[in-house]
Amino acid sequence: MENNRPLNVGMVGGSSGFITNAHQRAIFMDGTRRVSAAALSSNPEKAMKAASEWPYPIEGYESYDSMLEEELKKPNGERIDYVLIQTPNHAHFDPAKKFIKAGIPVFCEKPLTLNLDESIILSDLVKEKRIPFCVAHTYLGHWTTRLARHIVQSGLLGEIRWVDSCYLQAWMAIRSSNPEFKETTWRLNKNISGISNCGGDIGTHALMQLRYITGLDIDEVSAHLETFFKWNENDEDNLDDHFTAYCKLSNGGKALVRATQIAIGHKNDLRIEVNGAKGSLRWAQEESEKLVVSPLGKPDRTYYRDPNLATDDFLTDLPDELLKENTIPWGHSEGFHDAFARLHRCFETDVRAYQSGTYNETDGSKYATVDDGLIGIHFVEKAVESSRNGHAWVKL
Ligand SMILES: NC(=O)c1ccc[n+]([C@@H]2O[C@H](COP(=O)([O-])OP(=O)(O)OC[C@H]3O[C@@H](n4cnc5c(N)ncnc54)[C@H](O)[C@@H]3O)[C@@H](O)[C@H]2O)c1
Repeated sequence: MENNRPLNVGMVGGSSGFITNAHQRAIFMDGTRRVSAAALSSNPEKAMKAASEWPYPIEGYESYDSMLEEELKKPNGERIDYVLIQTPNHAHFDPAKKFIKAGIPVFCEKPLTLNLDESIILSDLVKEKRIPFCVAHTYLGHWTTRLARHIVQSGLLGEIRWVDSCYLQAWMAIRSSNPEFKETTWRLNKNISGISNCGGDIGTHALMQLRYITGLDIDEVSAHLETFFKWNENDEDNLDDHFTAYCKLSNGGKALVRATQIAIGHKNDLRIEVNGAKGSLRWAQEESEKLVVSPLGKPDRTYYRDPNLATDDFLTDLPDELLKENTIPWGHSEGFHDAFARLHRCFETDVRAYQSGTYNETDGSKYATVDDGLIGIHFVEKAVESSRNGHAWVKL
């Protein structure tokens, strides 16, 4: 790295979305990254206006094409070091492809693309260019998610038999009383959202949480995609707001991956339960500092971030890097922004390695990769196929 300068991040999209605020905080959290440039809207005037109203000086661009063109003219150290794509789903593929081709690492929102063909193109390009690429599956960044991964993948729960991973929300039911609602959310438009609303938007988070913690893949799926709120006369235009996928896991176990936007009372209720032959664990993002583990024949135990975990009799071989994480001291709460920051921090390490010529392809242990994004899109497409074919079992 040249003289410890902070990395410059360029943003594509984000004049309004809440996720921009979260990314922005996460980018700044360590003092080693900063937002330097942005193309904030598909409308050039709005993009420039939003950039000029940004709370601190950034270089505004009328489009991501002009941002790429102008940034490439700058010398290393002044140009953007990576780009963050936080546009609606249909506008991930084109900027991602162009920035990868130009050799600029990409941090992209989920779901990766609108369809599998686009995801395959991105995956191939990332491999060809050997370039860092992160898909923003936020919840992999929670310290407790990483502890859960260690527990399952070091065999402490034995062979995994059953996983229940779900993401439960209420917003569709809450906003349905507003007649203008359909016009104000792109998530209901299949040309922007993709072939699944609920499955693509939050089912992919539930899937990624399962795959990251267990290291298992989905071999076959039998799914029900349902639409409780029908906004369009033509039924084919009504995307799912309730997504249920029964799955066969790659080790022979079974899983339920489900998501809903109609469950009144649930806010961002992502939760996972992993059951193995020697015990089980339960984690929920709304109480993300806590991990409950039930070893077979022993009392339940609740783990928090704690230096004493190094001496715990159940958590054998807890990796040093987990205990020495650069984070807020034990007992002060981490949350959503810290999870995002952990992803950006790990991505920064890879970007700096890439720039110094020492980058080896990421193994997916720190953040979701382009192939994780591709698997998410594949899963959603196969779930839709299954649902349309009488919930038949479909192989992935
Ligand atoms: N990781 C998470 O936890 C999480 C949470 C929420 C949203 N998301 C994802 O973030 C993305 C954005 O979602 P949102 O709810 O913030 O949407 P949004 O509509 O609120 O914001 C999208 C922004 O992108 C801008 N935009 C659209 N097209 C553009 C283009 N061609 N060039 C530049 N800017 C453009 C819009 O002006 C808007 O500011 C989606 O893919 C969504 O799935 C992820």
